[in-house]
Amino acid sequence: MQFHPTMAHSFQTTLLSFLFLFSITQAQPSFRPKALVVPVIKDASTLQYVTTVNQRTPLVSTNLVIHLGGRFLWVDCDKNYVSSTFRPARCRTSQCSLAGSTSCGDCFDGPRPGCNNNTCGVSILNPVINTATGGEVSEDVVSVQSTDGSSAGRVVTVPRFIFSCILTSSMLQNLASGVTGMAGLGRSRIALPSQFASAFSFNRKFAMCLSGSTSSNGVIIFGNDPYRFLPNIIVSDQTLTYTPLLVNPVDDPLVEYFIGVKSIKINSNIVALNTSLLSINSKGKGGTKISTLNPYTVLETSIHKAVTEAFIKESAARNITRVASVAPFGACFSSNNVGSTRVGPAVPYIELVLQSESVVWTITGSNSMVYVNDNVLCLEVVDGGSNPRTSIVIGGHQLEDNLLQFDLATSRLGFSSSLLGRQTRCANFNFTSTA
Ligand SMILES: *[C@@H]1O[C@H](CO)[C@@H](O)[C@H](O)[C@H]1NC(C)=O
Ligand SMILES: *[C@@H]1O[C@H](CO)[C@@H](O)[C@H](O)[C@H]1NC(C)=O
Ligand SMILES: *[C@@H]1O[C@H](CO)[C@@H](O)[C@H](O)[C@H]1NC(C)=O
Ligand SMILES: *[C@@H]1O[C@H](CO)[C@@H](O)[C@H](O)[C@H]1NC(C)=O
Repeated sequence: MQFHPTMAHSFQTTLLSFLFLFSITQAQPSFRPKALVVPVIKDASTLQYVTTVNQRTPLVSTNLVIHLGGRFLWVDCDKNYVSSTFRPARCRTSQCSLAGSTSCGDCFDGPRPGCNNNTCGVSILNPVINTATGGEVSEDVVSVQSTDGSSAGRVVTVPRFIFSCILTSSMLQNLASGVTGMAGLGRSRIALPSQFASAFSFNRKFAMCLSGSTSSNGVIIFGNDPYRFLPNIIVSDQTLTYTPLLVNPVDDPLVEYFIGVKSIKINSNIVALNTSLLSINSKGKGGTKISTLNPYTVLETSIHKAVTEAFIKESAARNITRVASVAPFGACFSSNNVGSTRVGPAVPYIELVLQSESVVWTITGSNSMVYVNDNVLCLEVVDGGSNPRTSIVIGGHQLEDNLLQFDLATSRLGFSSSLLGRQTRCANFNFTSTA
């Protein structure tokens, strides 16, 4: 083969750009972020929480539904996935084992992202439609903003972020419009918290602070505290309450986040419950988990009944009158005798008592109630049926304006209870960049 002059030229250009890139990398040798920050917005129609990261080369802003108990990032590669830095994970590489993949396959319709020979695959799940499909384990550039905990800073890049690339666009069904995948924050080695932590050598922990607003961003901060919210309210490890994160031993893999609720109090009075439903049994049934995909808390039927009845009774003692139910909620009230407080409508507090009597997650009106119209507000819990796998699923609205810190290394959850009580909210993170 003749060495064509244009090839020589392009070789030179490549060499030059390589050297150029090399010198850029050299120019900032030691910037290592202590934490990263991504915005999270609540989607008004699905009530899902959506984050945005930049992926690929050139970078494409990619919207993803947050899946707290998800194993990894997955993206629909079928449409418009164009990237010069995309790499499929070849069979039996460390990427495949990190992803927990044991399968290896060929694809005859490629090569293209999602369809390559000699690549490993993983099964991906859209829990909203409860459907799974296979995806190719892949790598590409992911870039997000760093933070010092106070505001958004310099953009940093993970050059080979492992994700799963799928070619089944129907997997986006029932997800918020404009999203192309899901961002798993679970306990797996390739979920976002673990990959970011290992890319930048910070602790395997993240703080999630969801905003109830569909127009202002909440935040997820990967890495260490402190977390500062305007007007200069600092949430740090010292100001959080901690409870062990539990696993469901029957889950495979162990990615979801459970906590040990021992009892429930309403207006300081203990609610009579079948407490055996509160622990996870040997078949993996029971217990309490945290979910970003359920918009409201879901309670097993007998717990739902007990909690609802106790709440109605304690509300009646405050002259709050019950009115007709508004589906899917069982207990609705006239707003007439409901005052308003910094932490929401003045209704009885619901307390989740954790590992001891003194460790309590307090749910105030801002997290327990929803106004269905100007005159009626409802207790925002729904009946999960009499035989659900998990007895209590704490849903999105109950998490909003609470800062939750998931520490994977020590397996504990730090929680703030409502930030409204500290005169700030999750939408008050200062995204104005210093960089
Ligand atoms: C995979 O290999 C087969 C031959 O074994 C070939 O026909 C096919 O085009 C290849 N597909 C890709 C995506 O490279
Ligand atoms: C309490 O729940 C457990 C687990 O579902 C069940 O086996 C038991 O029968 C329940 N006890 C009562 C008194 O309902
Ligand atoms: C409830 O209403 C009754 C009668 O109007 C009144 O006597 C009582 O003080 C009220 N209780 C509270 C807690 O507001
Ligand atoms: C937000 O952060 C930027 C960058 O650090 C800073 O200049 C600005 O004053 C901050 N905004 C407020 C309201 O504190």
